Parts: sequence; C-alpha cells; structure tokens
Amino acid sequence: MDIKGLYSSSTATMKTSMIREMLAQTKGVAGMISFAGGFPSPATFPADVLAVLFKEVTLETGTDSLQYGASEGDSDLKDAIIDWEHTNNKISLKPEELLVCNGATNGIYYFTRALVNPGDVILCEGPTFLGSVVTFEAAGAEVVAIDMDSEGIIIDKLVQKIKTLKAQKKSIKFLYTIPDFQNPTGITMSLQRRHELIKLMQAEEILILEDDPYRELRFTGTRIASLFELARTEYKDTKLVTVIKSFSKILGPGLRIAIAFGNEDLIKPMCSWLQKIIVNPEGVTQKVVARYIQKGYLQGHLKDIANYYRPYLTAILDALQKYMPPEVSFTAPEGGIFIWLSTPQNDLNFDTIFSEVVAQKVCYIPGSKFYPENQEKYNCLRLNFSYPSIEQIWAGVETLASVIKSKV
Ligand SMILES: Cc1ncc(COP(=O)(O)O)c(C=O)c1O
Repeated sequence: MDIKGLYSSSTATMKTSMIREMLAQTKGVAGMISFAGGFPSPATFPADVLAVLFKEVTLETGTDSLQYGASEGDSDLKDAIIDWEHTNNKISLKPEELLVCNGATNGIYYFTRALVNPGDVILCEGPTFLGSVVTFEAAGAEVVAIDMDSEGIIIDKLVQKIKTLKAQKKSIKFLYTIPDFQNPTGITMSLQRRHELIKLMQAEEILILEDDPYRELRFTGTRIASLFELARTEYKDTKLVTVIKSFSKILGPGLRIAIAFGNEDLIKPMCSWLQKIIVNPEGVTQKVVARYIQKGYLQGHLKDIANYYRPYLTAILDALQKYMPPEVSFTAPEGGIFIWLSTPQNDLNFDTIFSEVVAQKVCYIPGSKFYPENQEKYNCLRLNFSYPSIEQIWAGVETLASVIKSKV
C-alpha cells in the first residue's frame, strides 16, 4: 500500500525543520562549540526539589492526579498562578481566564486554531520564533513579519503594513509578539513602544498574542510591564492581549507546562481545542508546579537562574566587543538566552558561510531561518549563550570573528 499517497495535503507539504537538519550536521562532532541551540542550561533545573515534590504529589494526591483531569487545568495550579500574579504583578485573574497548556507551543496552537481560517493574516516581528511561524503556516495563515529596531517592532512599518493588507481586504487576526528578550534577537520592547503598540492594535481592532517565555530571565536592568499587564491595568482592556507564560526556561522544558491568560471568549475555544487534542494537561506535573510555587521555591529559584546566567551574558558581550570588527553590530540584552548579530545589508550571507564556520568547529543559526518564507534576511545570525561554557564562548566568538573579518 502506498501510505505516502494517502497523506493529507498538509502532511505531504509539511517542511522538515531546517534548524534540526543543520544541527544534525554538527551533533557529536568532537570539539564543536555550539551557539546554535535554544536549550536552557540543565544546571538551572531544580531537579532535587522537583524529585521530592513528584514523590509527595503522587503519594498524597495520586487517586486524583493520576486520573483524567479538568481540560482547563488543575485548580491548584491555577490558584497558585493567580496568587503569584496578584502578588508580583498586581493583576487580578479569574480561574476562567486561565488555561494550562502542554508548553507554550501547544497554547499558541490552540490560540491559532481558535481564530485563524486559511488565508487570514498573522502579523509578527521579523525575525521571530520559528516554532510559532510553523504553527501559523500549518493553520494556513499568511504570516507577515515587520522589522524591528532596538526598541522592538517598528510602529511606522506596522501601520503601513496594516494599511496595505486592509486595502487588499485581508483579514488580520492577530499580532504575535515576544516582547521580553525576544527569540531570536534578545531585544526587549521599550515601555513607550508597548504603549504605542497597544494603542494601535486597539484602534485597528487586532488582537495581540504575547509569548513570554524569557520574561523571568532578567539578569540586569529594570523590569518593564508586560503588554498584558499594561492593557489590563492602564487601558482597562481585558480583551486585547492574551499572554502565554511558559515554565520551560524556568523549571525545565521536559515538564511541558505553560499557562495562557486571556479573555474568557478566547480561553473557552482554546480549551475546546485542547480537549480534542490532549484531553487534559498532565495531572501530576501540574500539581508539582503548583506546590513548587506555593511552597515559596520559585522566587529564590528565579534569583538563582539570573545569578547562574549573568556571567555567560557578560562573557559573550565582552568577547563580541573584543573580537568583532566594527562593521558587525550585535544586540546587548539584559537577560534571556540569545544575541543577534548583523552586518550591513548584503555584506555577508550567513547561510553561505555556515559550512566554513562549522569546519572551524563553531556553529550558529543563520538569521534567515527566523523569517517567514520569502521574507528572509541573510546578513544576520543568532547566538545562544546558555549552552556553551564560558571558555567556549570566548574561543567560539574569536573563531567566528576571524571568519567574518576575512569576508568584510
Ligand atoms: C519565543 C518562544 N516561544 C515558545 C517557545 C517554546 O516553549 P515551550 O517549551 O513552552 O513550548 C520557545 C522555545 O524556544 C520560544 O523561544
């Protein structure tokens, strides 16, 4: 039987992950220094405490937590999140405004399924997180990327793009943004830009999906209110912004826990999609995360993570400063796990020189991989600093700089 001939058209046209394929070339190569991954450091996973809590939760609540559970999420976890948000961010949330998801990617999928018909437009930052672009494209959306500057998405360009799309009678369903320590650029949207964005989206009646997995990974500087917080507190708008907060970069991506907060009219259909696809989020893990927060571990753990990563960020910024030629610019984030490097337009193509750099045992992700199809830029790349050691960071940046210097 020709199984492949039976594939649905969406399966048949599904693209393999270019990033995974590129990484496969470099995996297991002795001495390879990788700036390519997007993994948090395993040294930041609180394995000892989680092990105790998993045992405790299974023994104490197993009859309930090992059973099928509520699709919208465990009430203990929701209560813990509601308390946390109230204490730390002065936000009041109702349980119906929360949905526990199997990681942020899963929540982004439900949000997209709830809103998008094939041909609808989703706006995003250019560059952006590829995992989301793939989800949007799988739903048949037209994904339109808007350039960024050091303060985030460029509002004038966004205004122009919306005008053009509306003139073409396109239906723009939402804008997807990663305002804090963005993947892949490390850029954090300024407060003023956040206000401008909210006002524009309100005026244009375009929803915002705020994806915030790196927000708690701030190592220096001052916290800026999230779009969700601003919309709710300063604009009294409970409909505009839905936020997805993932625990992947805080407790470990293997837990697969993220929480979506938003208007009930969005959370409800998202929950219906969740019910069809995973029935309910994983019961034991939800209660473990709830206890982790309620027993007061989270606050201290966030400080530990910041202390752990800070020297890595300092090392990569110092190394870039020391070794890169003046033509190269790079972002200087105050947290997160990524830095974006670029050369003047058309100076260098980082897809083309990838194999040359890999031959010297250094690996990165070319910037073009973070743009929707046909909107790629090639004079840029992403560097991750949470995976290599500090010695590797210094050596890897020196090697990368020497290749770049030989080209510009
Ligand atoms: C911006 C962004 N959103 C979502 C995710 C995925 O998060 P999760 O593990 O919760 O699915 C990532 C992971 O790299 C990310 O960078």
